[in-house]
Amino acid sequence: MNATLEFEDSSITVALVGCGGFIGSHLLRAIFERTCWRVFGVDLDSYRIQEHLANPRFEFLCADLADPTVVERIAQFPVVVNLAAICTPGRYMAEAAEVIRSNYDHPRALADACARSGSWLIHFSTSEIYGKTAADSGALLEDESEIVLGPVSASRWSYATAKLLTERYLAGLADLNWTVVRPFNFVGPFMDFMPGVDGEGIPRVLANFSTALVRGETLKLVNGGAAKRCFTSVHDAVDFMFCVFAVGRDPERLESVLSQAFNVGNAANEVPVAELAQLMRSVYASLKGIPESAVPGVEIVSGEEYYGKGYDDSLRRLPSVEKAERLLGFKAKIPLKEALEESLRWFINHYSTHETDVC
Ligand code: UGA
Repeated sequence: MNATLEFEDSSITVALVGCGGFIGSHLLRAIFERTCWRVFGVDLDSYRIQEHLANPRFEFLCADLADPTVVERIAQFPVVVNLAAICTPGRYMAEAAEVIRSNYDHPRALADACARSGSWLIHFSTSEIYGKTAADSGALLEDESEIVLGPVSASRWSYATAKLLTERYLAGLADLNWTVVRPFNFVGPFMDFMPGVDGEGIPRVLANFSTALVRGETLKLVNGGAAKRCFTSVHDAVDFMFCVFAVGRDPERLESVLSQAFNVGNAANEVPVAELAQLMRSVYASLKGIPESAVPGVEIVSGEEYYGKGYDDSLRRLPSVEKAERLLGFKAKIPLKEALEESLRWFINHYSTHETDVC
């Protein structure tokens, strides 16, 4: 990287690929609020970022990484954040080939271009690269945990395989300045979609349970809801990114982020999915001012019945958060209940008034 990343420097433009997505839209707003930087944003969808389209510091391109001319353009900027991905498990079975193109072919092309131009590529990978973790597995360590992905016949693992290969590719490119982020179940406003309104299929669990609550339908517990996740507020995720950017202000600290992968998660928020369902029922009842007994209950479904043939699961996804704390001084802070309250409040308001609008 040639420039130092002073937050006050208005000559800096950061490229944000996937700026219109869930995480991208929060990061975009934070960059405008906390820095003087300009943003070159790329996405196929702009409905989450309508408020920024007229901002003179923002250039938006409705496109994706399948176009090589777009890839070359993005790689001209000193810092490139790649958030673009197909990342809903509901799609990993029926659309495995497209999932692999989106999560391996496209980021690989971008990595090649960044290696040629000298840009710093901050690539969003996934906690799912840790694979088919068992119920009693311990904290997942970035540079030590063994990785077991399920068999090829379980195409749930198409996504994790593609993401892991991308990480290996970045690590193998001699000339690339890279940092990898592994998100652990980020939640917050604008996560995923409401089926039939602004998306089709099965979103991730937070949006799925929120949809069921709003529609008065039962919450589906896949295989009994025994799998555990550490739900992490998207605001903590944005703070993590600013810890990374801050290192870019000090060339002497760059070594602590370059060629490194980081778990970004909140280990204190670990919960089995069945308990998440009960928590969300209770938060929903209090937000609506109704008794919990009036809120829809839960129903157990099998994974294959719900998602289709080839579904499989990670039973525990607990991040070790030591590396991000040690190298970047980052620790997620927002408790689960607070994150769920914010997300559900937003979901209820948004879908009672919102008309979707795509670019
Ligand atoms: C997904 C993605 O595959 C990961 O890449 C991504 O990192 C992760 O989300 C994330 O958000 O960080 P997963 O955690 O399995 O992985 O996604 P969800 O669809 O949110 O499922 C979480 C758990 O809830 C799974 O055990 C699933 O079977 C269960 N689930 C999901 C239900 O019990 N009911 C539902 O309606 C939906």
